[in-house]
Amino acid sequence: MASNVLRTAACEMFGIEYPILLAGMGPTAGGGRGSAATAELVAAVSNAGGLGVLGGAGFGPDALRAEVRRIRSLTDKPFGVDLLFPSNAVRLSDEGTPADPRTLIPQEYWDAIGRIKQEFGIPDVAQDRPAPRGLWRVDDQVEVLFEERVPVLASGLGNPAPFVPRAHELGMKVIALVGNTKNARRVAAAGVDLVVAQGTEAGGHTGRIGTIALVPQVVDAAAPVPVAAAGGIADGRGLAAALALGACAVWCGTVFLATHEANLYEWQKQRILNATEEDTIVTRLYSGKTMRNITNPLAQAWEASGIKALPMGLQGLLIADLVTGARAAGKDELLMNAAGQAAGMISGLRSAKEVIDEMVAGAVQVLTRDLPGGVRAAAAAESAV
Ligand SMILES: Cc1cc2nc3c(=O)[nH]c(=O)nc-3n(C[C@H](O)[C@H](O)[C@H](O)COP(=O)(O)O)c2cc1C
Repeated sequence: MASNVLRTAACEMFGIEYPILLAGMGPTAGGGRGSAATAELVAAVSNAGGLGVLGGAGFGPDALRAEVRRIRSLTDKPFGVDLLFPSNAVRLSDEGTPADPRTLIPQEYWDAIGRIKQEFGIPDVAQDRPAPRGLWRVDDQVEVLFEERVPVLASGLGNPAPFVPRAHELGMKVIALVGNTKNARRVAAAGVDLVVAQGTEAGGHTGRIGTIALVPQVVDAAAPVPVAAAGGIADGRGLAAALALGACAVWCGTVFLATHEANLYEWQKQRILNATEEDTIVTRLYSGKTMRNITNPLAQAWEASGIKALPMGLQGLLIADLVTGARAAGKDELLMNAAGQAAGMISGLRSAKEVIDEMVAGAVQVLTRDLPGGVRAAAAAESAV
């Protein structure tokens, strides 16, 4: 019954039961723990009838291959891998990058970081650390996905255009996230199979437009390419609303962070559970791009300072010692804890299957029986008179 009501183009496209896609969620908490969405969560979502998507951005090629194989050992269902294709990132592995890329960062930034360290009592713990070298390129990561014939490649940032033809040759589907109609048209023209319209409510890197305004506009802009909705969707009401806006699926991150299978520290899960809808902040502190996090005094201080963030790549390098020092000093509350405004509607830890089952049941109830506000019931009563 449920599967009939919720059977959409996304179910056909990916060979899944429900139009619920796990957002590919990458490293969090200063990279201390790796990606938020690793094999356990990916497989749990796929096994429960959705599409599990690995947050692959933080994996080097060898680790990525191993994680893909780990997913395959946990499920025989379809799944995807999410990578980042930012256009204006400083790639520290590029030819011509100095041996110590930290020399690319102007002194005034180091002075500002020094002042922040002092203000927050963050110790210097990493001064002798060798300069970061040998970072992989996204091309190497994509090559692994091609070799492993991963069913779905998702692009979380930028345009995956150069990789679409090969992906299609190999029978893979391609998903691309966008936050406005301009980028929706761009990725649709590149031939992606599904566009994700991600509203500003979303956790992680996010844009400026709210989900309810964005989704129908992206549906129109990307047509005939189908669209999934993201940002603030955490229960059956959100799923039903997304379908009403013209989406054929939802791409959910925050709601899956509060699950047993999510690869977060327990304190991160607790902070999400304790958060209200007011408790997130959009900051460039952690990556150089606008990212929604559970708020903390460090992110607030950075935003108040007026310091202009560096491009992606360099910003991470700038704050590396800050993050390492905060972790070493046990100041976990200052670390990155990406999550969206939907955190306020999550009240307890569940399994990924429980999240999906409850979302499906809630959406079916809205779509087949009473709307939460009772509008359909009232209309039915009126017409019965
Ligand atoms: C902890 C965290 C990490 C994220 N990392 C990524 C990422 O690496 N790639 C990506 O495409 N999106 C990433 N996102 C954004 C999600 O893909 C998704 O768009 C968002 O979570 C949807 O909104 P919601 O959080 O309200 O469900 C991340 C989100 C969170 C909360």
